[in-house]
Amino acid sequence: MAPVKTLEAVYGGPVPSRLRKAGMLRRLALSDRGLERRLRHGLEAAEKELAAHAEGAGDPRISDLAGHLAAAGGKRLRPLLVLLGAEFGDPWKDGVTRAAVIVELVHVSSLYHDDVMDAAATRHGVPSANSRWGERLAVLAGDLLLAKAARLAADLGPEATSLNAEVAGRLVEGQLQELVGPGAGDDPLGHYHRVISGKTAALLAMSLRIGAQQAGAPEQVVWALGEYAEQLGFAFQMADDLLDIKTPTEQLGKEQGKDLAAGVASLPVLLALADRTAQGAELRELLSAGSVGPAERGRALALFRRSPALAEAEAMMHGRLDRARTALQSLPPRPALEALRSLCDVVAGQTR
Ligand code: IPE
Ligand code: IPE
Ligand code: MG
Ligand code: MG
Repeated sequence: MAPVKTLEAVYGGPVPSRLRKAGMLRRLALSDRGLERRLRHGLEAAEKELAAHAEGAGDPRISDLAGHLAAAGGKRLRPLLVLLGAEFGDPWKDGVTRAAVIVELVHVSSLYHDDVMDAAATRHGVPSANSRWGERLAVLAGDLLLAKAARLAADLGPEATSLNAEVAGRLVEGQLQELVGPGAGDDPLGHYHRVISGKTAALLAMSLRIGAQQAGAPEQVVWALGEYAEQLGFAFQMADDLLDIKTPTEQLGKEQGKDLAAGVASLPVLLALADRTAQGAELRELLSAGSVGPAERGRALALFRRSPALAEAEAMMHGRLDRARTALQSLPPRPALEALRSLCDVVAGQTR
């Protein structure tokens, strides 16, 4: 396991205090003020419950640890998706806020685990749990949050319980697949798609579905929303992979090039490895060693800027976004549809 770095080493100097706090709602273009008010209200309610559940442990030291990442921030995309799903039924129904808390607990749990996997020093511009408390406690805090999500899902009934159990399993299996890598004879890109289907797309799909289910939306609407979010999830992870290479640490709130350092087979890395042109040879050589050391990181990032891999990855991301938009066509007209379309534009715009 790679040694965990200090924050000062990551930022090359003093650590910026508050980074990227804006939630996803503020990035959406919404024309319906009523919808915007309902979403803001719903997110505030979920935020209060989230803090109570994430920090709710008998021992204040464990509360600090388990509440750390939820308190540090995040875009709250998954709770927002729950609320948007609920717009296709009765958004005021009991259970909607609870569902929003469940999906964010599962997400935050996966970040505790992910930062251990990547030996990440920062998350949302604050120290990761592993760099503050060590890997053993960080892993157990992630487990605790997953258990809390399962407990809350049980309160919502059997449908939510089984959806949560299935998706938590798919998510962790996606993370395991990322670590074990493709098997002998596996196509690396096929493997990548399986990884991100589990670790990212499954939870985005669950978020819209559980919101719609709790609000009593019809089954075919729940299904179409899930299909949209699955495709959005693929695109979202592809965009995140691109941001790791394109966006400086100060804007990202997490270390630029972290995937390269951890040897993660992200989409641009896989595409660069498949680029057989002479122009790509130096980058390929740097990447084929697995993890890229600190001395070569700057060079690798510069080579990426000239590589066709970034444009190819963006084209794949746009393909998924097109599929997500197509899935929206079967949905009944609601103000939330505009928000779901806008979300596709936000994801597309992130990597420009
Ligand atoms: C990070 O998710 C992990 C990925 C699935 C790419 P987010 O980008 O939604 O992280 P937060 O919620 O803002 O922390
Ligand atoms: C997301 O993947 C982690 C999960 C969805 C479990 P990343 O590894 O890309 O997340 P970041 O980039 O560290 O936020
Ligand atoms: Mg990772
Ligand atoms: Mg990433």
